[in-house]
Amino acid sequence: MNLRLWNPERARRSRSGMPAALLLALPLTAGFAGAESAAIRARQGMVVSQSAIASEVGAQVLRDGGNAVDAAVATAFAMAVTHPTAGNIGGGGFLVWRPASGEPLAYDFREKAPAAAHPEMWLDENGEYSFQIHHLSHKAVGVPGTVAGLRLAWEEQGTMPWERLVRPAVELARDGFPISHGLAGSLARVLERMAPYPASVAQFSKDGTPYGPGEVLRQPDLAGSLERILENGTAGFYEGETAELLAAEMAANDGLITLEDLKNYRAVVREPIRGEYRGYEILSMPPPSSGGTAMVQMLNILEGYDIARNGFGSAANMHLMAEAMRRAYADRALHLGDPDFNPGIPIDRLTSKAYAEDLRATIDPERASVSSPSSFEWNTEGSETTHFSVVDKDRNAVSLTYTLEFGYGSGIVVPGAGFLLNNEMGDFNGAPGLTNERGLIGTDPNLAEPNKRMLSSMSPTIVARDGELFMVTGTPGGRTIINTVMQTIMNVVDHGMNAQEAVDAGRMHHQWLPDQIRYEKQMFSPDTLSILEAYGHRLSETEAQGAAEVIVVLRDEGVLEGGVDRRRPDGGAAVHDEDPSGN
Ligand code: GLY
Repeated sequence: MNLRLWNPERARRSRSGMPAALLLALPLTAGFAGAESAAIRARQGMVVSQSAIASEVGAQVLRDGGNAVDAAVATAFAMAVTHPTAGNIGGGGFLVWRPASGEPLAYDFREKAPAAAHPEMWLDENGEYSFQIHHLSHKAVGVPGTVAGLRLAWEEQGTMPWERLVRPAVELARDGFPISHGLAGSLARVLERMAPYPASVAQFSKDGTPYGPGEVLRQPDLAGSLERILENGTAGFYEGETAELLAAEMAANDGLITLEDLKNYRAVVREPIRGEYRGYEILSMPPPSSGGTAMVQMLNILEGYDIARNGFGSAANMHLMAEAMRRAYADRALHLGDPDFNPGIPIDRLTSKAYAEDLRATIDPERASVSSPSSFEWNTEGSETTHFSVVDKDRNAVSLTYTLEFGYGSGIVVPGAGFLLNNEMGDFNGAPGLTNERGLIGTDPNLAEPNKRMLSSMSPTIVARDGELFMVTGTPGGRTIINTVMQTIMNVVDHGMNAQEAVDAGRMHHQWLPDQIRYEKQMFSPDTLSILEAYGHRLSETEAQGAAEVIVVLRDEGVLEGGVDRRRPDGGAAVHDEDPSGN
């Protein structure tokens, strides 16, 4: 086996003299190409998220003696205030927990379909599939899972009082925080979509006039909802005033979620997907996420090639990665969905080395396969999920990805309750049999049914080596998530990049349908792209793919390295303690 281990010497050489501080926020809005690739370092603990303010909330929990789950709970609630594009209490997600000793677990707080859901609920009056109903109506809202999931993880793994973890979010919502340049732009852009919802316009603008950078965003109704969660835990959200406000909004607007749906929601604990790549243990999210299964399948295929020797960004690697992606995404469509409704998902086969060998035998090293059917169009899909990574002083780790689906979800703020509702039902297949050339999938495992969870691509992932924590990674990006997370791992394991370099490096994506490699603009050479075309690949460019937030453990130095994704504004790493030897 070709084992290329992480090389701390190389990482050291690539560092520059960035000053260390307790709060190492990087609110960079500039392009990431050619940006500083020094990784942020800490000795004891670190939180890396898409909101520097929320990272600091989590790091303070670590400094006060909390563990990684405590810090994750506080960070997640803070992001529901400071990162309204995707941070949430009205959405859902996944948390992968790897304790320094003991068994890793996966917390599933994916939204569920309401009891009145059915596979044809997004057909219009003419029986035609309607994107608008599926993605941008009250029928697009799933029963939220975030509060139940954070509470369950805290009940099982947390060490600090619940109130201590929710209070910073209450204060941020009540007292406000300064709006960054990036958030101001994002709020201005979403205003038109929120126009039909007065509570949304009231919360995120000044009576319809966009906020400017530096102005303070106060969200008193959200503070009230968070206060009820602080006082009453899950009952403070799924019952009582908040639940009644949500159910009333649904009843008044043809939505399906009832008080009963809310009361019945439960987060669940699942076994993580496990794989092995070049001697590194991969732990990731099982169904209802497709992430862990597809990633392990792809890494098993790619393990058979000398990726390190081919070199980062080579046509040889990009071709092999695209072929692995094509095969895994076809299996994803065929097999994956909510395991509680699809008991026969062949996870063991899909993630086996033997199956990977069979698939590898179908790959021509210099000729693209053809997905069937094929096309050049892309299905519209949200990319505004968010991810954060946490490591504490004992090397317990949390990898957490959660989402509202589109940026700001449905765009609907629950009047009086101040939180945004997801539009996650859009992650169910749109209608039976609707597999088409634009990447819509209509296969059975992921059709809507009462109380079913919709298939996800979210891939919170933890990597270990020799039984010890090595890396925590994840990203937003819809179906691109799985491929982005895989590439951050390959960048470290195969290409010896440090955490920041692994995040900065150019990314590519193939998802079976449409039959096309999408690559980040200006990150790959024209020569490479010409070779890929000569192999028969169709190519398209994208501005940026994902926003990975990564922590790598340099075991020999006893140091954590953070990589913050500068493709999107406002991200930051906050550290428990600075590393006196670094930076
Ligand atoms: N809404 C993004 C995902 O779950 O994959």
